[in-house]
Amino acid sequence: MSTKTQTVSLEEIEKQNGYMAAVRAGNMAFERELGFKPPVFVLTLGCQQNESDSEKLAGMAEKMGYAVTDKPEDAYLIIVNTCAIREHAEKRALSLVGQYKHIKAKRPELIIAMCGCMVVQEHRAESIKRSYPYVDLLFGTSDIHRFPEFLCEKFKRGRRVLRPCEPEQVVAEDMPVRRESTYRAWVSAMYGCNNFCSYCIVPYVRGRERSRKKEEIVREVSGLVAQGYRDITLLGQNVNSYGKDMGADYDFADLLAELDTIEGDHWLHFMTSHPKDATRKLIDVMAAGTHIAHHFHLPMQSGSDSVLKAMNRRYGFDKYIGIVDYIREKMPDATITSDIIVGFPGETEEDFEATLSALRRARFDMIFSFIYSPRKGTPAAEMEQIPDTVKSERFERLLAVQNEISLASNKLFEGKTLRVLCDGESKNNPEVINGRTEGGKIVFFDGDEGLKGQFLNIEIERGDTFALYGKIKNN
Ligand code: SAH
Ligand code: SF4
Ligand code: F3S
Repeated sequence: MSTKTQTVSLEEIEKQNGYMAAVRAGNMAFERELGFKPPVFVLTLGCQQNESDSEKLAGMAEKMGYAVTDKPEDAYLIIVNTCAIREHAEKRALSLVGQYKHIKAKRPELIIAMCGCMVVQEHRAESIKRSYPYVDLLFGTSDIHRFPEFLCEKFKRGRRVLRPCEPEQVVAEDMPVRRESTYRAWVSAMYGCNNFCSYCIVPYVRGRERSRKKEEIVREVSGLVAQGYRDITLLGQNVNSYGKDMGADYDFADLLAELDTIEGDHWLHFMTSHPKDATRKLIDVMAAGTHIAHHFHLPMQSGSDSVLKAMNRRYGFDKYIGIVDYIREKMPDATITSDIIVGFPGETEEDFEATLSALRRARFDMIFSFIYSPRKGTPAAEMEQIPDTVKSERFERLLAVQNEISLASNKLFEGKTLRVLCDGESKNNPEVINGRTEGGKIVFFDGDEGLKGQFLNIEIERGDTFALYGKIKNN
């Protein structure tokens, strides 16, 4: 495998266009005969990177003559884009695929494809090959652009096409995209991860870091702003190591500064950042920016230096909190969020208490907390594990401490007016409208669906643990 990032050649993209045309011809015949386009259902498990990949898969499917549906029971093609980050995510994928078997029993033409992070692990690929004979297509995370080829082969030969190969050092451009939203968009800045945190499967299933050319990113972001997108998030497993694989003297802070010059009314977000690459330069660029959201998602994982070391995170708590302090110094209004893992192998009560005091010191607006889940093939899975009961008990204590902090931080907004990007009716309660602040906090208010996609000024009346409540301010 080459360590230098390669852009998938135009020739290869042309080849895929040819496969797309072939599948499309078949689907048009289907449409002529049955009077509708064959429906495709795309299920995404996992992070924003997977969501972004799914938008490309759906884009290709549409170009091949499918119509996207949200009902798997209607589908002629089901794509399950899997995640491997924790056991729960893998179990979910397998149980859902198990359910799709019943749809296929009724409609044997249904093609079931699995892709994404779970299926590139050898043991998972093997078990799907063996125990899930109704899965027709299997392909890896760096082969998304070859989906038309695999599908075409399936149609031509009728056999299963199982190619869950290891991730390669490639970046594909110019693929069709079917974006889920008309005002929030994902833009990949880089793919893969080189960090090998000892608990994490991502470097094994996503491959080494590879950055997109800055011209491509600038072009995509400019296009989105011109189309009226209001919130653009730059994605990467470790987005602030952007550019390192290209050896150019141009880093993530430079990219952000350049993107900030694109004129429009929009927010620029990015995620996720590794503390080791969260430079002062980056924070200065954010503070000086016009569009760059004052939101920093900076996973801490643990507050104990010995656990951080065993996790191979390459920073200690002092270095971490120094970054947090600098963000607050430069941007007192910044929202800072984090990821925490409890129950890492060898975590003592003292280590765990160090995490609790770190939370009290850092005062994150919000955290995403996870119970450690052993991942086959990672070093931490081989370490001595701690009992599940201890893990869950610590998890509850962690939440209790953070909930208090989140509540206090949200109370500070009472009486203030915040700019909110409206997401329309709340999924759980269509009676209320919701939206998000620049820092990603959820805000509920009265209004109507027509406000979706607009920036609004909301006067905050109440701050609760998980959300803010307010009313539209007319001015
Ligand atoms: N690249 C990002 C995070 C990707 S995964 C980063 O480094 O910040 C998102 C979060 O999942 C991680 O921050 C971590 O908190 C959690 N996570 C990763 N592997 C895990 C595991 N094996 N068990 C539990 N949580 C895990
Ligand atoms: Fe996983 Fe660490 Fe890479 Fe994040 S930085 S994806 S936690 S290995
Ligand atoms: Fe999951 Fe892969 Fe994302 S493991 S969290 S979908 S990079």
